[in-house]
Amino acid sequence: MSKVIVAPSVLSADFANLQRDIEMLNSSAAEWIHIDVMDGVFVPNISFGFPVLQAISKHSKKVNDVHLMIVQPEKYFKQFADAGAHHMTIHYEAVTHLDSAIHQIKATGATAGVALNPSTPVSVLKEVIHLLDLVLIMSVNPGFGGQKFIPYTTNKVKEAKALILATGSKAKIEVDGGVGLNNAKELIDAGADVLVAGNAVFSTANPAETILQIMNASTK
Ligand code: DX5
Ligand code: ZN
Repeated sequence: MSKVIVAPSVLSADFANLQRDIEMLNSSAAEWIHIDVMDGVFVPNISFGFPVLQAISKHSKKVNDVHLMIVQPEKYFKQFADAGAHHMTIHYEAVTHLDSAIHQIKATGATAGVALNPSTPVSVLKEVIHLLDLVLIMSVNPGFGGQKFIPYTTNKVKEAKALILATGSKAKIEVDGGVGLNNAKELIDAGADVLVAGNAVFSTANPAETILQIMNASTK
């Protein structure tokens, strides 16, 4: 089994020491850096936008995994790509023309993902799964870091895995929200390829060591 990719969420980083935290991630086992953009409309919180993404990109040596929790994301794909997004994930619930939006992301040269809120069934992706590089299963209601994992979402990871296997899609499965050492193994066993971890990484005394432990959770 190939090792899970850990994608630490900078939402839990120290924004006054962002360069320090990005450099810590650069020298860690994390392959991706998860970057949460929130607009205060799609989700009840505002995080940051292009200037902060540009600042992160300037220092990041990892894959910049940008999670767009915004309405009308199509308006901004080019700007996000220009600001350093290697990967863009949009929410199924936030776009009307999903097929078109996926193609528009790819046209920028970035890889494309679709995120599902906890209450949105995996089956809504049936027609577009072959177009996707990533399916993001939200395991909390999006908007804030440090929330409690919603247990029924593990089953959605299994459903996403079954859909991917049945269709021959190359999409990876990412799980986001309340993920840490306590549930990493169960999520990897269910089919997760990428684990986002904000609070679980940045609240520890040695974040780089915690990243390594999450990465190795499947072998324990
Ligand atoms: C929540 C964000 C998450 C968040 C995860 O809306 O999409 O990426 O940063 O944070 P933790 O791991 O603390 O739940
Ligand atoms: Zn996220």
